[in-house]
Parts: sequence; structure tokens; C-alpha cells
Amino acid sequence: MATMSVPATHADAQSIDAYLDRYMERQPGTKIQYGHPSPRFWENRAPQFSELLEPLTPGRPLTLYLHIPFCPPTDPPACGFCLFAREDFTAYKLVVTYVDYLLRELDRYHELLGRRKLRAIYFGGGTPNILKPQEARRIFQKIHECFEVPHSAEVTLEGTPALFTMDRLEAYAEVGVNRLSIGAQTLKPHLIKYSGRKQRPEQIERAVEFCTEHHMSCNVDLITGWFEQTPQDLVDDIDCLADWGVTDMVNHPLTLQGGSAFAAHQDKLPPVAVTCRSFLVARERLLERGYRADSYTDYRRSDLPVVQYLELYRDILNNDRIGVGYGANSLMAGTLDKPGHTYKNVVGFVPYYEGVEAGACVDGIFKFNAEDLRLLYVLKGLEGAPYLRASAYKQTFGADLHEDFAPWWEALQKRNWLVWGNGGEMPKLVGEGVFYMSTIQRAISEPRNAVLRGGETHLSTSLPAVPATSAVA
Ligand SMILES: C[S@@+](CC[C@H](N)C(=O)[O-])C[C@H]1O[C@@H](n2cnc3c(N)ncnc32)[C@H](O)[C@@H]1O
Ligand code: SF4
Repeated sequence: MATMSVPATHADAQSIDAYLDRYMERQPGTKIQYGHPSPRFWENRAPQFSELLEPLTPGRPLTLYLHIPFCPPTDPPACGFCLFAREDFTAYKLVVTYVDYLLRELDRYHELLGRRKLRAIYFGGGTPNILKPQEARRIFQKIHECFEVPHSAEVTLEGTPALFTMDRLEAYAEVGVNRLSIGAQTLKPHLIKYSGRKQRPEQIERAVEFCTEHHMSCNVDLITGWFEQTPQDLVDDIDCLADWGVTDMVNHPLTLQGGSAFAAHQDKLPPVAVTCRSFLVARERLLERGYRADSYTDYRRSDLPVVQYLELYRDILNNDRIGVGYGANSLMAGTLDKPGHTYKNVVGFVPYYEGVEAGACVDGIFKFNAEDLRLLYVLKGLEGAPYLRASAYKQTFGADLHEDFAPWWEALQKRNWLVWGNGGEMPKLVGEGVFYMSTIQRAISEPRNAVLRGGETHLSTSLPAVPATSAVA
């Protein structure tokens, strides 16, 4: 075990408590797009592909993420709540052009990497089920050319209910998609109307039935904290989806950021305390209905193994992810001796196309230090059920999980938001602590964020340095 040490800052339980108090009035939402740190701290530049791939570790499981940004237009725009990189769909020929560039980006990776084996593939968006059979086939043909895809690989494609037509579903199954993720948000027509989507529950039921008949896993995304939504609305949705045979469900607390229409009318949303109760009632119901919590938002039928795409987060330091397509995000942790980076592709069709042609389509990159890796490990670990273990932390960082974050644990325990399972081995958020996950994550990363901001933290003194070790290999 080695040598390099990283300065960090510390805090006392009282200031953490005050920090949590201040933020509890705010809708915590979910860090749905990025982990640590926020992209506002990233360098704004466009490295060449060769630099991007430097920290990719041979033999480490590799996941491929493909971003399909098109979405059916809605009023209000972007379904009223969405924060993802997306564009209104106007004409299918633009999708065909986009796919041409996506394939060129895959070629670039292939030229530099050779034919690497993939652990999992995820089509996210935007709305990947905008893809018609022909484009789905082209993309899969290219993926197989560029990567080895073992039979065991989980291949997820997400989409919006109205576009899961039978011809598309059949084509997706034929090319190897084995898991659908349906962005329902709510099954209730009087609630979904706020998103401006033309969506009917039968469209979701039909896609679920297709999955059951074709032995595919089927996830449905729900959102807690919607206009007019009551805890009973969520329970009804969960019961209905469980009766239909859905294998996985995600329950996201609504994230309000930027200029979304929902954020502009947040005074009309349920109060945070009601959203918290709905979120916890939904959690209870999912567990009663035989689903296992694999993270604070992800549930799976308890007879099935953990979703592979989630394994990536379960062990974030030992899984690499390449994201292709406009706005896509990649992460390669590297090692503690030689930390890696995270980067994101440029947003917008023209800059993305120009970037692919020039061999540089990234517009933001963040180079981790060992402290960032420790934070990523702890923040992602806390999201799990639980993924964080004191013995694994000791092995990875050569340090004591209890001591390193002692004031945070103390503040959380005082609120009954945290328990230590297995004789002090596993910290696990409980009760309202689960709902306030992203607020807690913000409190834990605040000292490091203050350093990145170049300013003072509200939580100051010093944390023991991270001893760099090659345990992350
Ligand atoms: C890329 S989007 C969805 C895929 C598809 N376009 C759809 O809407 O059905 C992935 C998921 O993120 C979640 N999501 C997006 N914006 C969110 C927000 N502001 N708060 C909470 N969840 C959000 C939704 O549950 C959504 O299904
Ligand atoms: S929620 Fe889905 S369909 Fe709506 S704007 Fe976001 S990505 Fe597009």
C-alpha cells in the first residue's frame, strides 16, 4: 500500500446538522445524471479520443451507453420536468443522420480500443424508442463489429410508452435488447396530463405483456412529487404494475432544476413533507409486493439477480463506462495512484457532428484526484441497499470508514437517518434519510465542493488524507 496523500477538509456534526436543516425545506430530487462532482466544476475543453481513453483499465468490466436525444414534442416543453439532453423530434431523416454520426463515434473507439468485451449496453435518452427497426439494426450491427457482446450482457433500451409499437418491440427483441425501461412516470391520466404527453395506460400494459411473452426484463419509471399526486396514487400504480408482471421499478423523487415548467410552478406541487411521505409509502408498498430495493430508487423482483447496469454503480471504481452520442457521459475511475476522469459529449447536433468529424466531440472533462474517488465510492455506495462496507473501504483506501466520516455519521444517526448493519460493517440510510439521499450526498461532498469552488466551506477542519493504494485495480 502506498504513499501519495490527498489533503481534504472535515466538518463537525453540528455544522452538518445545521446544513441538513437548511436544505430540508428543498425538494431533494435525485442526482439522476451525474455523480460527483457537478459538471459546473468540470474543465471546458475538447480532448482527443486518445486522451479520453488513457484511464481505461484493461480487463475491467466495460459498459456502453448510447444516447438518443430525440423526444416527441410536448406542451409544456420537455414533458415539463425533464433535465436530460434532448431535442424535439421533427423529422425522421434527422434521426437517420444522427445514427450515421453515432456509428462513426463507435468506430473511433474501436480504432483505439480494439474489440473490447462489454458487460452491459444501455440505450438512454431522450427517447431511444424513437428508433425504427432499420436504425436499431444498423446500430446493433455496428456494436457487434466494434465490441464483443457476450450472451450474458444485459441490453436495456428505454423509451416513452406511446412509441413502443409492435414493429419496434419485435425489432428490438430480434437485435438483442433483453430489458425494456418504460418511462411511465405515472399511470394516472389526470396526472400525466401535466406533462403534455399523449400517453395511455394500455400502451404500458402492452409493452409489459410483450416483455413477459419474450422473457425480457421490464422496468417502469415512476416519479414521486408530481402535481396533485397522493401517496395512494403511487400505491395504485405500483399495485397495477406488479399485477401486470413488471420485473423492475424505479421510483424517482422529482428533481426541480433549471427552467423546467414544473420548477416554475413548484408552489403548486405537494409540499416536500408530503412528497417524502409518498416516497416512503411507495417504498413500503414495493417491498410488500415482493420487490427488493437495490438502490434508494431501484427495485427488482426479489427472485431475480441485480440489474447489471446498477452493478456499475455498486462498484463504481472497478467499472468503466463509455458514453456515445450527443450529451453522453463517460466515467473511468482509474486507480488511486493514477486517478481517471469523467467527461461528457457536447450537446447539440451541429457541434456533435463537427466534433465527431474532428475526432473530439467532448466539451467537459473532470480529472479526479484520490479524494474524488473516495467520495464517488462513498456517495454511490450510500445509494445502495447497502453497497458500502467498512471492510471493503479499508481494503480499498487503507482507512476507517467510521473515522473518516465520523461527524456525518453522527449527524445522521442523531436524526435516525442512518443505522450500521452487520455489527458496524454497513452504514445504511433509513427512514427519511432515504428520501433525503441527495441532500446528504451534498453535505458529504460539501468540503470538496468548496475546494473546487475555490471558496470557504461551511463545514471546515481537516479530514485524514487518502493513502493511495493499488487496491483499486
Ligand atoms: C431519459 S428519461 C426517460 C425516457 C423516456 N424518454 C421517457 O420519458 O419515458 C429517464 C427517466 O428519468 C426520470 N426523470 C427525468 N427527469 C426527471 C426529473 N426532473 N426528476 C425525476 N426524474 C426524472 C424519468 O423517470 C424518466 O423516465
Ligand atoms: S421525460 Fe423522456 S420524453 Fe420527456 S423530455 Fe425527457 S427524455 Fe424526452
